[in-house]
Amino acid sequence: MKHIVRVITVLLSLFVTAAGLAQPYAQKDFSMEVDSVLNLMTLEEKIGQLNQLSSNERFTGPVIQNTNQLEQVREGKVGSFLNITRPDILVQYQEAAMQSRMGIPLLFALDVIHGMKTIFPIPLGEAASFDLALMESSAQIAALEASAYGLHWTFAPMIDVSRDARWGRVMEGAGEDTWYNSQVAVVRVKGFQGEDYTDAKTVMACAKHFVAYSAAIAGKDYNTVDISRNSLWEVYFPPFKAALDAGVATFMNSFNDLDGMPATGNKYLQTDILKGKWNYQGFIVSDWNSIAEMIQHRVAENPKVAAKLAITAGNDMDMVSLAYITHLKDLVEEGIVSEGRIDDSVRRILLKKFELGLFEDPYRYFSRTKELEDESIIANYRSVARDAGRKSIVLLKNENKVLPILDTKKSTSIALVGPLMKSQRDMLGAWAGRGETKDVVTVYEGIEHALPNTKITYIEGYNLENNELIALPDLSKFDVIIVAVGERHNESGEARSKVDINIKASQQELVKRLKSSGKPVVALVMGGRPVVFSEMEPFADAILMTWWLGTEAGNAIADVLTGKYNPSAKLPMSFPGHLGQVPVYYNYKSTGRPWNPERRYTFGYIDHTILPAYPFGYGLSYTDFEIAAPVLDKGRYAMGETITITTSVENKGQVKGKETVQLYIQDVVSSLTRPIIEFRGFEQVELNPGEKRTVRFVLTDKDLGFYNAETQFVTEPGEFKVFVGNSSQNLQEISFVLSE
Ligand code: BGC
Repeated sequence: MKHIVRVITVLLSLFVTAAGLAQPYAQKDFSMEVDSVLNLMTLEEKIGQLNQLSSNERFTGPVIQNTNQLEQVREGKVGSFLNITRPDILVQYQEAAMQSRMGIPLLFALDVIHGMKTIFPIPLGEAASFDLALMESSAQIAALEASAYGLHWTFAPMIDVSRDARWGRVMEGAGEDTWYNSQVAVVRVKGFQGEDYTDAKTVMACAKHFVAYSAAIAGKDYNTVDISRNSLWEVYFPPFKAALDAGVATFMNSFNDLDGMPATGNKYLQTDILKGKWNYQGFIVSDWNSIAEMIQHRVAENPKVAAKLAITAGNDMDMVSLAYITHLKDLVEEGIVSEGRIDDSVRRILLKKFELGLFEDPYRYFSRTKELEDESIIANYRSVARDAGRKSIVLLKNENKVLPILDTKKSTSIALVGPLMKSQRDMLGAWAGRGETKDVVTVYEGIEHALPNTKITYIEGYNLENNELIALPDLSKFDVIIVAVGERHNESGEARSKVDINIKASQQELVKRLKSSGKPVVALVMGGRPVVFSEMEPFADAILMTWWLGTEAGNAIADVLTGKYNPSAKLPMSFPGHLGQVPVYYNYKSTGRPWNPERRYTFGYIDHTILPAYPFGYGLSYTDFEIAAPVLDKGRYAMGETITITTSVENKGQVKGKETVQLYIQDVVSSLTRPIIEFRGFEQVELNPGEKRTVRFVLTDKDLGFYNAETQFVTEPGEFKVFVGNSSQNLQEISFVLSE
């Protein structure tokens, strides 16, 4: 055993020296090293590299108890672990890997979705900031913390375009728009991986879930998907291609089937498109147990057939199902799977281990644990989390300018109503990494701290467990009432789909009762998805969508309530006005009977508008902005020419604020039906009162293209419209002609 390890070490030191130590690992060509290791491996050891186990510390899917894990590692039967978060345990596992015959280091992964220790807003909330640099920073901090724990790899970003708010996992993505999801995918990948993911202060990212998982019918998690090839290419593929182009290190496939084949066993998706047409060189990990779940899908009669389907379709690593480790050897020996196919997967995985520098130093990621306790580092991360929090809060309503609440009148008295005001756990949301409840600033604390001259009174209002209303005291002495309603942390996320996304009836009733006091009522709506609250809406003077904002939730909310931060966020997902509208999204396709509520036989409902309560791109500010009609530099363009659209935005109000000027397009006539409008650009402009700025957008014909009936990306000449405005529903347009 010692012999092999020594051979490898010597080989490597030769190669590493030859390659030049100063060069970042990712830029080196490790193919020789990978092959020399591969050549020394037995078939069992190769298959071991494809096997990923979960520690028994936490389960992120159906519980699969797995004992004697260290023994399996020593036997070379494991290539990677997920769900180990303690540095001391990680070291212990890596030591066991070093005792295996080949001494190949383990890869350690975790779902670091919106922070590791410092928890940031949930991804959907953060996407509302429309601040790409901010999203990159929060991912970078998550990576700094995760790698300080000793982790190499996060299962993020989730870049599934999400349109059905019943689906619990909408909280993990960037909402309903494909183009915006692609922008966010790129910055999140860059944030996690940095310029060079082989730097031990970064982690490898994972583009997931490949693909169309979010199209689960009726929003039921894990449900079947039935979409057209056109939707696949137009709606669901682009964020993955964008992540790939941004250099994402790994991909994860998805639980759903597509065209009748589960993604894990889908050759078209993994081999033909991802590894073939797109030339992806990294590896694909299955989702949790998704190989074995092909048995329940009933496309495989047993784990052996499932393993065969997955490996031949292009899936490289088996997350927890044990189908590979149990059956691949037989499949190779029986000539059903070629050893060459196994070698390809092993190469892809070994390459990442080389690139991460783990062969040179398997303990490379264990030198920074002290940072996790460093007060000044923590304070720095928390200030970014606070900034991310306040930039994610969407002001949905502000009647009579009830907000902001200024701390000037010494006599002001405020009631804070609802147990979510004092909840710490709920602010962390789902997928809270190693975030600790005790570190969370509650909304109550945040407000109390921000308003030192104000008298604050807490009123329970309702029971957090059963939602029963609790009798209210006399409210006449309060100047303002702020109430927190919405979802608890375990009401959105994986396996948390819902048939009813209305805010609980009792909570909505509470808002009504609070308003009967005649006092101004401010509602803080919390949750991991678009929610419906039409019953309470007329009774709340102001409404803020505050999602789950993480460790600094209370301070972030207080910053917005008090006007220390003027809200600037915009909705990345439409908020329905009625549950029956779901899925409701701004970029639905044109139909033969366009919506006209005045006329029968047109597209829509007889009992409700088709418009959402709050559309994609919507969000108010404490000031008022005026966006001018768009102007084009020309009226006709030829293919290849740039199209410049100019508008201006002016702050017409009394306070400084930030507006997100949005650009949408429409291809007036095309060879296939297309969305009524499509988001194609935005710019955030911060302006003092009275200040005005010109905003310029530049498009090329690529921005106007789409996948045609032959699945070719084309831009068809003809008339186009461009729109600018401050939401997908408040736009001014101009048109132009694009010629051959
Ligand atoms: C989820 C993935 C996650 C994995 C590992 C699965 O259930 O679908 O998104 O990365 O578990 O925790």
